[in-house]
Amino acid sequence: MSSAALPTRPVPRANVLAIEAYVPGKAHAGEGVKVHKLSSNESPLGPSPKALEAFQSADALEIYPDGSSTGLREAIGAAYGLDPARIVCGTGSDELINLIAHAYAGPGDEVLYSQYGFLIYRIAALTAGATPVVAPEKDYRSDVDALLAAVTSRTRVVFLANPNNPTGTYLPFDEVKRLQRGLPPNVLLALDAAYAEYVRRNDYESGIELVATCSNVVMLRTFSKVHGLAALRVGWLYGPAEVVDAVNRIRGAFNVSAPGIAAATAAIRDVGHLEASVAHNETWLPWLTSELTALGLTVTPSVANFLLVHFPDLPGKRAREADAFLMQRGLILRRVDAYGIPGALRLSVGTEEANRLLVATLAEFLGKTGTGHGA
Ligand SMILES: Cc1ncc(COP(=O)(O)O)c(C=O)c1O
Repeated sequence: MSSAALPTRPVPRANVLAIEAYVPGKAHAGEGVKVHKLSSNESPLGPSPKALEAFQSADALEIYPDGSSTGLREAIGAAYGLDPARIVCGTGSDELINLIAHAYAGPGDEVLYSQYGFLIYRIAALTAGATPVVAPEKDYRSDVDALLAAVTSRTRVVFLANPNNPTGTYLPFDEVKRLQRGLPPNVLLALDAAYAEYVRRNDYESGIELVATCSNVVMLRTFSKVHGLAALRVGWLYGPAEVVDAVNRIRGAFNVSAPGIAAATAAIRDVGHLEASVAHNETWLPWLTSELTALGLTVTPSVANFLLVHFPDLPGKRAREADAFLMQRGLILRRVDAYGIPGALRLSVGTEEANRLLVATLAEFLGKTGTGHGA
Protein backbone atom coordinates (compact mmCIF):
# COMPACT_ATOMS: atom_id res chain seq x y z
CA MET A 1 0.00 0.00 0.00
CA SER A 2 1.35 3.45 -0.90
CA SER A 3 1.78 5.80 2.06
CA ALA A 4 2.59 8.91 0.03
CA ALA A 5 -0.70 10.74 0.75
CA LEU A 6 -0.96 9.68 4.38
CA PRO A 7 0.14 11.80 7.33
CA THR A 8 3.34 10.70 9.02
CA ARG A 9 1.71 10.48 12.45
CA PRO A 10 -1.77 9.93 13.90
CA VAL A 11 -3.91 13.07 13.46
CA PRO A 12 -6.98 13.81 15.61
CA ARG A 13 -10.20 14.62 13.78
CA ALA A 14 -10.52 18.28 12.70
CA ASN A 15 -13.54 18.71 15.01
CA VAL A 16 -11.45 17.67 17.99
CA LEU A 17 -8.81 20.26 17.17
CA ALA A 18 -11.54 22.92 16.92
CA ILE A 19 -12.29 22.43 20.64
CA GLU A 20 -10.90 24.85 23.18
CA ALA A 21 -10.52 22.55 26.18
CA TYR A 22 -12.78 23.47 29.12
CA VAL A 23 -10.83 25.41 31.73
CA PRO A 24 -12.09 24.61 35.23
CA GLY A 25 -12.30 27.30 37.93
CA LYS A 26 -8.99 28.05 39.63
CA ALA A 27 -8.44 26.48 43.03
CA HIS A 28 -5.26 28.20 44.28
CA ALA A 29 -4.60 31.82 45.26
CA GLY A 30 -1.60 33.68 46.70
CA GLU A 31 0.76 32.03 49.18
CA GLY A 32 -0.17 32.26 52.83
CA VAL A 33 -3.75 33.56 52.42
CA LYS A 34 -6.89 31.70 53.35
CA VAL A 35 -8.53 30.59 50.13
CA HIS A 36 -12.23 31.05 49.38
CA LYS A 37 -12.97 29.19 46.16
CA LEU A 38 -15.94 30.92 44.54
CA SER A 39 -15.12 29.80 41.02
CA SER A 40 -17.10 26.60 40.42
CA ASN A 41 -20.52 27.04 42.06
CA GLU A 42 -19.80 24.42 44.68
CA SER A 43 -21.86 24.28 47.87
CA PRO A 44 -20.46 26.38 50.74
CA LEU A 45 -22.18 24.00 53.19
CA GLY A 46 -20.50 20.96 51.69
CA PRO A 47 -22.22 17.58 51.52
CA SER A 48 -24.73 16.10 53.95
CA PRO A 49 -22.94 14.46 56.92
CA LYS A 50 -24.92 11.33 56.01
CA ALA A 51 -23.48 11.41 52.48
CA LEU A 52 -19.99 11.80 53.89
CA GLU A 53 -20.53 8.86 56.20
CA ALA A 54 -21.86 6.71 53.34
CA PHE A 55 -18.84 7.69 51.24
CA GLN A 56 -16.43 6.84 54.03
CA SER A 57 -18.02 3.48 54.74
CA ALA A 58 -17.99 2.40 51.09
CA ASP A 59 -15.48 -0.44 51.20
CA ALA A 60 -14.76 -3.52 49.06
CA LEU A 61 -12.94 -1.30 46.57
CA GLU A 62 -11.81 -4.38 44.66
CA ILE A 63 -15.43 -5.00 43.57
CA TYR A 64 -16.92 -3.23 40.53
CA PRO A 65 -19.86 -0.95 41.33
CA ASP A 66 -23.44 -1.74 40.30
CA GLY A 67 -23.24 -0.74 36.62
CA SER A 68 -26.90 0.26 36.64
CA SER A 69 -26.72 2.43 39.78
CA THR A 70 -29.97 0.67 40.78
CA GLY A 71 -30.16 1.81 44.40
CA LEU A 72 -29.39 5.39 43.48
CA ARG A 73 -31.98 5.47 40.70
CA GLU A 74 -34.55 4.10 43.14
CA ALA A 75 -33.66 6.74 45.72
CA ILE A 76 -33.94 9.52 43.09
CA GLY A 77 -37.23 8.02 41.88
CA ALA A 78 -38.59 8.00 45.44
CA ALA A 79 -37.46 11.58 46.07
CA TYR A 80 -39.14 13.00 42.95
CA GLY A 81 -41.90 10.46 42.27
CA LEU A 82 -40.23 9.23 39.08
CA ASP A 83 -39.99 5.81 37.47
CA PRO A 84 -36.39 4.61 38.15
CA ALA A 85 -36.42 2.83 34.78
CA ARG A 86 -36.45 6.24 33.11
CA ILE A 87 -33.41 7.51 35.02
CA VAL A 88 -29.77 7.09 33.96
CA CYS A 89 -26.92 8.03 36.28
CA GLY A 90 -23.67 9.36 34.92
CA THR A 91 -20.16 10.49 35.81
CA GLY A 92 -21.47 13.96 36.52
CA SER A 93 -24.02 15.53 34.22
CA ASP A 94 -21.05 16.40 31.99
CA GLU A 95 -20.91 12.77 30.89
CA LEU A 96 -24.64 12.74 30.21
CA ILE A 97 -24.42 15.91 28.10
CA ASN A 98 -21.72 14.23 26.01
CA LEU A 99 -23.65 10.98 25.73
CA ILE A 100 -26.77 12.81 24.51
CA ALA A 101 -24.73 14.66 21.88
CA HIS A 102 -23.12 11.40 20.75
CA ALA A 103 -26.35 9.42 20.70
CA TYR A 104 -28.32 11.98 18.69
CA ALA A 105 -25.91 14.07 16.62
CA GLY A 106 -23.03 13.34 14.30
CA PRO A 107 -21.31 14.73 11.22
CA GLY A 108 -23.70 16.91 9.20
CA ASP A 109 -26.03 17.43 12.18
CA GLU A 110 -26.43 20.57 14.24
CA VAL A 111 -26.50 21.01 18.01
CA LEU A 112 -28.16 24.24 19.10
CA TYR A 113 -27.77 26.24 22.30
CA SER A 114 -27.91 29.86 23.30
CA GLN A 115 -25.15 32.46 23.18
CA TYR A 116 -23.99 32.22 26.79
CA GLY A 117 -25.05 28.61 27.22
CA PHE A 118 -22.83 26.32 29.30
CA LEU A 119 -19.54 25.80 27.38
CA ILE A 120 -19.66 22.02 27.54
CA TYR A 121 -22.46 22.00 24.92
CA ARG A 122 -20.08 23.25 22.25
CA ILE A 123 -17.41 20.76 23.30
CA ALA A 124 -19.93 17.89 23.31
CA ALA A 125 -21.25 18.84 19.85
CA LEU A 126 -17.77 19.03 18.34
CA THR A 127 -16.67 15.81 20.02
CA ALA A 128 -19.64 14.06 18.44
CA GLY A 129 -18.59 15.43 15.06
CA ALA A 130 -21.65 17.69 14.85
CA THR A 131 -21.79 21.42 14.15
CA PRO A 132 -22.45 23.73 17.12
CA VAL A 133 -25.00 26.48 16.38
CA VAL A 134 -25.49 29.46 18.66
CA ALA A 135 -28.67 31.55 19.05
CA PRO A 136 -28.28 35.11 20.37
CA GLU A 137 -29.51 36.04 23.86
CA LYS A 138 -31.27 39.17 25.10
CA ASP A 139 -30.03 40.68 28.37
CA TYR A 140 -28.08 37.52 29.16
CA ARG A 141 -31.23 35.43 28.94
CA SER A 142 -31.99 32.64 26.47
CA ASP A 143 -34.35 33.85 23.77
CA VAL A 144 -36.92 31.29 22.63
CA ASP A 145 -37.66 33.13 19.36
CA ALA A 146 -33.95 33.25 18.49
CA LEU A 147 -33.54 29.55 19.34
CA LEU A 148 -36.52 28.58 17.20
CA ALA A 149 -35.29 30.79 14.35
CA ALA A 150 -31.95 28.93 14.41
CA VAL A 151 -33.55 25.49 14.01
CA THR A 152 -32.89 23.87 10.62
CA SER A 153 -33.59 20.47 9.10
CA ARG A 154 -30.17 19.44 10.46
CA THR A 155 -30.87 20.31 14.11
CA ARG A 156 -30.85 17.21 16.29
CA VAL A 157 -30.40 18.45 19.86
CA VAL A 158 -31.15 21.72 21.64
CA PHE A 159 -29.37 22.18 24.98
CA LEU A 160 -30.94 24.65 27.36
CA ALA A 161 -29.40 25.25 30.77
CA ASN A 162 -32.21 26.45 33.01
CA PRO A 163 -31.03 28.31 35.01
CA ASN A 164 -28.05 28.96 32.81
CA ASN A 165 -24.41 29.02 33.85
CA PRO A 166 -22.67 31.55 33.80
CA THR A 167 -25.56 34.05 33.63
CA GLY A 168 -27.81 32.72 36.43
CA THR A 169 -30.91 33.69 34.46
CA TYR A 170 -33.80 31.33 33.76
CA LEU A 171 -36.73 30.78 31.44
CA PRO A 172 -40.18 30.41 32.99
CA PHE A 173 -42.10 27.20 32.30
CA ASP A 174 -44.33 28.88 29.71
CA GLU A 175 -41.30 29.86 27.66
CA VAL A 176 -39.76 26.40 27.88
CA LYS A 177 -43.08 24.92 26.74
CA ARG A 178 -43.17 27.39 23.87
CA LEU A 179 -39.68 26.26 22.86
CA GLN A 180 -40.69 22.58 23.01
CA ARG A 181 -43.85 23.18 20.97
CA GLY A 182 -41.93 25.07 18.33
CA LEU A 183 -39.38 22.29 17.79
CA PRO A 184 -39.85 19.60 15.15
CA PRO A 185 -40.65 16.27 16.89
CA ASN A 186 -37.32 14.74 15.83
CA VAL A 187 -35.32 17.36 17.76
CA LEU A 188 -34.36 16.40 21.32
CA LEU A 189 -34.70 19.20 23.88
CA ALA A 190 -32.16 18.60 26.67
CA LEU A 191 -33.07 20.68 29.73
CA ASP A 192 -30.00 21.00 31.91
CA ALA A 193 -31.31 21.77 35.38
CA ALA A 194 -28.03 21.59 37.30
CA TYR A 195 -29.14 24.42 39.60
CA ALA A 196 -32.87 23.62 39.80
CA GLU A 197 -32.96 23.12 43.57
CA TYR A 198 -31.92 26.72 44.18
CA VAL A 199 -34.67 28.31 42.10
CA ARG A 200 -37.42 29.91 44.14
CA ARG A 201 -39.82 31.10 41.44
CA ASN A 202 -43.42 29.98 41.02
CA ASP A 203 -43.12 30.09 37.24
CA TYR A 204 -40.10 27.75 37.10
CA GLU A 205 -40.23 24.04 36.27
CA SER A 206 -37.06 21.95 36.10
CA GLY A 207 -38.23 19.67 33.29
CA ILE A 208 -39.89 16.79 35.14
CA GLU A 209 -43.35 17.83 33.99
CA LEU A 210 -42.29 18.35 30.40
CA VAL A 211 -40.51 14.98 30.23
CA ALA A 212 -43.69 13.37 31.54
CA THR A 213 -45.76 14.79 28.70
CA CYS A 214 -43.37 14.99 25.71
CA SER A 215 -41.39 12.33 23.89
CA ASN A 216 -38.60 14.68 22.81
CA VAL A 217 -37.52 16.17 26.16
CA VAL A 218 -34.84 14.94 28.56
CA MET A 219 -33.83 16.56 31.86
CA LEU A 220 -30.33 16.54 33.35
CA ARG A 221 -29.50 16.98 37.04
CA THR A 222 -26.37 16.83 39.17
CA PHE A 223 -25.16 16.01 42.67
CA SER A 224 -22.27 18.48 42.23
CA LYS A 225 -24.06 21.66 43.26
CA VAL A 226 -26.69 21.77 46.02
CA HIS A 227 -25.74 18.27 47.23
CA GLY A 228 -22.09 19.27 47.56
CA LEU A 229 -20.67 16.13 45.94
CA ALA A 230 -18.75 17.63 42.99
CA ALA A 231 -15.62 15.60 43.79
CA LEU A 232 -17.51 12.33 43.33
CA ARG A 233 -18.85 13.13 39.84
CA VAL A 234 -22.48 11.98 39.92
CA GLY A 235 -25.29 13.25 37.69
CA TRP A 236 -28.55 11.83 36.40
CA LEU A 237 -31.05 12.20 33.61
CA TYR A 238 -34.76 11.56 33.40
CA GLY A 239 -36.16 11.01 29.95
CA PRO A 240 -38.32 9.01 27.58
CA ALA A 241 -37.62 5.26 27.42
CA GLU A 242 -35.99 5.67 23.98
CA VAL A 243 -33.50 8.25 25.26
CA VAL A 244 -32.73 6.11 28.30
CA ASP A 245 -32.14 3.13 26.00
CA ALA A 246 -29.87 5.09 23.64
CA VAL A 247 -27.75 6.55 26.45
CA ASN A 248 -27.49 3.18 28.22
CA ARG A 249 -26.14 1.63 25.03
CA ILE A 250 -23.16 3.99 24.82
CA ARG A 251 -22.33 4.90 28.41
CA GLY A 252 -19.44 3.31 30.26
CA ALA A 253 -20.50 0.00 31.79
CA PHE A 254 -19.50 1.14 35.31
CA ASN A 255 -19.80 4.89 34.92
CA VAL A 256 -20.60 5.77 38.53
CA SER A 257 -18.23 4.67 41.30
CA ALA A 258 -19.48 2.71 44.33
CA PRO A 259 -18.57 5.52 46.79
CA GLY A 260 -20.36 7.95 44.45
CA ILE A 261 -23.50 5.80 44.39
CA ALA A 262 -23.43 5.40 48.19
CA ALA A 263 -22.92 9.10 48.92
CA ALA A 264 -25.46 10.34 46.37
CA THR A 265 -28.08 7.88 47.65
CA ALA A 266 -27.63 9.21 51.19
CA ALA A 267 -27.58 12.80 49.93
CA ILE A 268 -30.88 12.65 48.11
CA ARG A 269 -32.56 11.21 51.22
CA ASP A 270 -31.24 13.99 53.47
CA VAL A 271 -33.91 16.57 52.75
CA GLY A 272 -32.92 18.61 55.82
CA HIS A 273 -29.43 19.22 54.48
CA LEU A 274 -30.77 20.15 51.06
CA GLU A 275 -33.14 22.65 52.68
CA ALA A 276 -30.31 24.14 54.75
CA SER A 277 -28.22 24.63 51.60
CA VAL A 278 -31.10 26.28 49.78
CA ALA A 279 -31.88 28.48 52.81
CA HIS A 280 -28.24 29.63 52.94
CA ASN A 281 -28.46 30.60 49.30
CA GLU A 282 -31.77 32.38 49.82
CA THR A 283 -30.11 34.57 52.45
CA TRP A 284 -26.85 35.32 50.67
CA LEU A 285 -27.80 35.54 47.00
CA PRO A 286 -30.02 38.64 47.54
CA TRP A 287 -27.53 40.09 50.04
CA LEU A 288 -24.64 39.82 47.58
CA THR A 289 -26.83 41.17 44.78
CA SER A 290 -27.79 44.27 46.72
CA GLU A 291 -24.33 44.88 48.22
CA LEU A 292 -22.58 44.59 44.85
CA THR A 293 -25.21 46.78 43.21
CA ALA A 294 -24.70 49.36 45.98
CA LEU A 295 -21.00 49.40 45.04
CA GLY A 296 -22.01 50.53 41.56
CA LEU A 297 -21.51 47.16 39.86
CA THR A 298 -24.08 45.73 37.46
CA VAL A 299 -25.36 42.36 38.61
CA THR A 300 -27.32 40.12 36.25
CA PRO A 301 -30.35 38.92 38.28
CA SER A 302 -29.70 35.29 39.23
CA VAL A 303 -31.92 32.50 40.53
CA ALA A 304 -29.01 30.09 41.05
CA ASN A 305 -26.12 29.96 43.54
CA PHE A 306 -23.87 32.33 41.65
CA LEU A 307 -23.84 35.82 40.19
CA LEU A 308 -22.54 37.35 37.00
CA VAL A 309 -21.07 40.73 37.95
CA HIS A 310 -20.16 43.34 35.32
CA PHE A 311 -17.29 45.75 35.94
CA PRO A 312 -16.81 49.25 34.52
CA ASP A 313 -14.63 49.61 31.44
CA LEU A 314 -12.31 52.01 33.24
CA PRO A 315 -8.57 51.71 33.82
CA GLY A 316 -7.90 50.01 37.15
CA LYS A 317 -11.54 48.97 37.58
CA ARG A 318 -11.91 46.27 34.97
CA ALA A 319 -12.96 42.66 35.62
CA ARG A 320 -9.46 41.36 34.89
CA GLU A 321 -7.95 43.77 37.42
CA ALA A 322 -10.62 43.00 40.01
CA ASP A 323 -9.89 39.30 39.56
CA ALA A 324 -6.17 39.82 40.24
CA PHE A 325 -6.90 42.02 43.28
CA LEU A 326 -9.35 39.49 44.77
CA MET A 327 -6.99 36.62 44.06
CA GLN A 328 -4.27 38.21 46.19
CA ARG A 329 -6.75 38.22 49.07
CA GLY A 330 -7.59 34.55 48.58
CA LEU A 331 -10.90 35.18 46.80
CA ILE A 332 -11.00 33.05 43.67
CA LEU A 333 -13.68 34.04 41.18
CA ARG A 334 -14.28 32.91 37.61
CA ARG A 335 -13.28 34.87 34.53
CA VAL A 336 -15.86 34.45 31.78
CA ASP A 337 -13.80 35.58 28.79
CA ALA A 338 -14.31 32.13 27.23
CA TYR A 339 -18.03 32.95 27.08
CA GLY A 340 -17.32 36.25 25.35
CA ILE A 341 -18.02 38.30 28.50
CA PRO A 342 -14.57 39.67 29.40
CA GLY A 343 -16.09 42.60 31.31
CA ALA A 344 -17.65 40.36 33.96
CA LEU A 345 -16.68 37.88 36.67
CA ARG A 346 -18.80 35.04 37.94
CA LEU A 347 -18.84 34.35 41.66
CA SER A 348 -20.45 31.55 43.63
CA VAL A 349 -22.36 32.29 46.81
CA GLY A 350 -19.93 31.29 49.56
CA THR A 351 -19.85 30.99 53.31
CA GLU A 352 -20.86 34.06 55.32
CA GLU A 353 -17.17 34.78 55.88
CA ALA A 354 -16.38 34.58 52.16
CA ASN A 355 -19.38 36.69 51.14
CA ARG A 356 -18.57 39.48 53.59
CA LEU A 357 -14.89 39.42 52.70
CA LEU A 358 -15.77 39.57 49.02
CA VAL A 359 -17.95 42.68 49.40
CA ALA A 360 -15.39 44.42 51.65
CA THR A 361 -12.54 43.60 49.25
CA LEU A 362 -14.46 44.78 46.21
CA ALA A 363 -15.37 48.00 48.04
CA GLU A 364 -11.66 48.53 48.63
CA PHE A 365 -10.84 47.72 45.01
CA LEU A 366 -13.42 50.22 43.77
CA GLY A 367 -12.44 52.83 46.37
CA LYS A 368 -15.90 52.78 47.99
CA THR A 369 -17.38 51.84 51.32
CA GLY A 370 -19.62 48.76 51.44
CA THR A 371 -22.65 48.94 53.75
CA GLY A 372 -21.67 45.66 55.41
CA HIS A 373 -25.26 45.52 56.69
CA GLY A 374 -27.81 42.81 56.88
CA ALA A 375 -28.10 39.12 56.09
C1 LIG B 1 -25.29 24.23 33.60
C2 LIG B 1 -24.38 23.12 34.01
N1 LIG B 1 -24.62 21.90 33.57
C3 LIG B 1 -23.83 20.86 33.91
C4 LIG B 1 -22.73 21.05 34.72
C5 LIG B 1 -21.85 19.87 34.98
O1 LIG B 1 -21.96 19.42 36.26
P1 LIG B 1 -21.40 18.02 36.71
O2 LIG B 1 -20.70 17.37 35.57
O3 LIG B 1 -20.51 18.28 37.85
O4 LIG B 1 -22.62 17.22 37.09
C6 LIG B 1 -22.43 22.31 35.21
C7 LIG B 1 -21.23 22.51 36.02
O5 LIG B 1 -20.78 23.57 36.29
C8 LIG B 1 -23.28 23.37 34.84
O6 LIG B 1 -23.04 24.61 35.28
